Amino acid sequence: MNILLVGLGGMGTCHYMNYKHIADASVVACVGRSESDRASAASWGLPIYASIAEACAKEPVDVIDVCAPTYLHKPLVLEAAAQRKHIICEKPVALHLADAEAMYAAAEENGVQLYIAQVLQFTREVETLREVVKTKRYGEPLDGCFERLTACPKWSQGGWLLDKEKSGLLPFDLHIHDLDVIVSLFGKPDGVTFTECAGRGKAYAEQYRFLYAYKSGLNVCAEAAWFNAAIPFTARWRVYFERGMLICDANGVTGYADDGEVTRFDISEPVQVDCGINLGRSGWFLRELSHLLACAKRGEPSTLVPKKRVLDVVEILENI
Ligand SMILES: NC(=O)c1ccc[n+]([C@@H]2O[C@H](COP(=O)([O-])OP(=O)(O)OC[C@H]3O[C@@H](n4cnc5c(N)ncnc54)[C@H](O)[C@@H]3O)[C@@H](O)[C@H]2O)c1
Repeated sequence: MNILLVGLGGMGTCHYMNYKHIADASVVACVGRSESDRASAASWGLPIYASIAEACAKEPVDVIDVCAPTYLHKPLVLEAAAQRKHIICEKPVALHLADAEAMYAAAEENGVQLYIAQVLQFTREVETLREVVKTKRYGEPLDGCFERLTACPKWSQGGWLLDKEKSGLLPFDLHIHDLDVIVSLFGKPDGVTFTECAGRGKAYAEQYRFLYAYKSGLNVCAEAAWFNAAIPFTARWRVYFERGMLICDANGVTGYADDGEVTRFDISEPVQVDCGINLGRSGWFLRELSHLLACAKRGEPSTLVPKKRVLDVVEILENI
């Protein structure tokens, strides 16, 4: 599969590093605008173009991978669909439901697939949780608690990440990871409430605590923060069930059953790739991109990132 990589910042670099480990994947060209994009393409020995149309006219492209800033996802995905190529697009799909719907409609009209790269779905941690929920190993879920906390990010090219119109800020940029998992496990919540806080003079909320309520009685809370404190990146969750609890933290994924049985789940990654940015080494993106390319090869949607859930999640976030 020949890939056209669009956007060569943090995620473009991460995807490039991972494609190198996928046997039948080859990044054949890039689209970028900045001096640093041109420097990255040159260091990878790849041609770089100013637009998708120009690149597709000159290169043999099967899949277009959009790793540009969030506010450019819609125009770039529409441009990619017009080229009749399958599309991988980084999260969040868009900041408005209508835009996301237009993107899927353009893909459908052109007979191609649109895949949104919700990477947590491909982690061993979430795979384990999905299996525990599905098989009811510990019974029905009663309560969930998710956390995704980091020091305020400063790495986006041109500062787009801290501009609400361009990134959607914390809910769309960071919390979306957990929300996508929550909706995939428990369905679309019946009620959503939240609290937020921000330091004096801050133009955006630095921390949110969301509460998702379900008619079944299940409650799931999720905290997301870009703290004004140099804390290490922290992502963890726990789900409490009728007959036990599953916890994901720095110790891995551990199940505690009501009869005293403790299970340390195997979440080891056989192949770990250096992502080239602050994400370190992981197998997450390799599993994600391998899966999405395999779906593209078959011309089928991904069961792990279905359109309906992507749209449900945008709709929830747009109303926050
Ligand atoms: N899955 C994850 O864990 C994860 C992590 C970080 C970011 N992301 C997502 O990835 C996307 C990119 O984020 P990033 O951190 O890599 O941003 P970044 O600022 O590091 O890089 C953006 C890149 O896009 C390029 N670009 C800008 N305008 C362009 C255009 N018109 N055409 C082509 N390229 C253009 C920039 O020059 C730059 O190379 C965002 O949507 C973000 O939400 C996902």
